[in-house]
Amino acid sequence: MIIAVDGPAASGKGTIARALAGHFGLPHMDTGLLYRAAALNLLGMGGDPESEFAAARACDLSQIDFDDPELRSETVGGVASRISAYPLVREALLERQRRFAGQPGGAILDGRDVGTVIAPAAEVKLFVTASPEVRAQRRYAELRRIGLDVHFPDVLADIRARDERDRSRAAAPLQVAEDADLLDTSDMTISAAVQRAIALVEARTGQSAQETAGPAS
Ligand code: DC
Repeated sequence: MIIAVDGPAASGKGTIARALAGHFGLPHMDTGLLYRAAALNLLGMGGDPESEFAAARACDLSQIDFDDPELRSETVGGVASRISAYPLVREALLERQRRFAGQPGGAILDGRDVGTVIAPAAEVKLFVTASPEVRAQRRYAELRRIGLDVHFPDVLADIRARDERDRSRAAAPLQVAEDADLLDTSDMTISAAVQRAIALVEARTGQSAQETAGPAS
């Protein structure tokens, strides 16, 4: 079973995807991390984010440590959002995501275009969203928690700019797949959102967690 979880920045899609992976016993890929890794490579190489060719050259991820906290920074996220608009970058990262999605036993991937481009035949597609204000509030609280001196209006402006870029790009824009279930987490706790996501998966597949999980390895 392939589960595609798409949605805008800070919508809660990553948290929901990780919880679903644990619940259904499926491997999980955060596809945004690939774009972030390419962005971090590019910055490390002193490359220009305005150059599609430089960005495409930064897509060799063989040396990347996916646990590097720098990958989660706002700077890297901003560059990732910029370079993810380039067709050459999307093409360079496509195969890795398709291979992960196609592994025997299934997988869960979260991102922007999983249900539309990476795995259009996914059995379950969730589009997780929340209002820009709520998402900015979550991101603001998270950044404050790790000690960053950020201001709410800046975080909100950043979220809006990222939404605009992710939605308006020509290559694989953020959009709701026709056959996706919408999950608006604006007024939900994390645990309520996860429960709702589990219920949506079960409704689509008619399966509970025990039936879905492959053999333990
Ligand atoms: O989900 P995130 O914030 O880690 O993603 C960082 C950027 O990567 C996001 O602004 C757009 C891009 N991205 C993408 O274009 N397609 C994906 N499937 C995942 C992320």
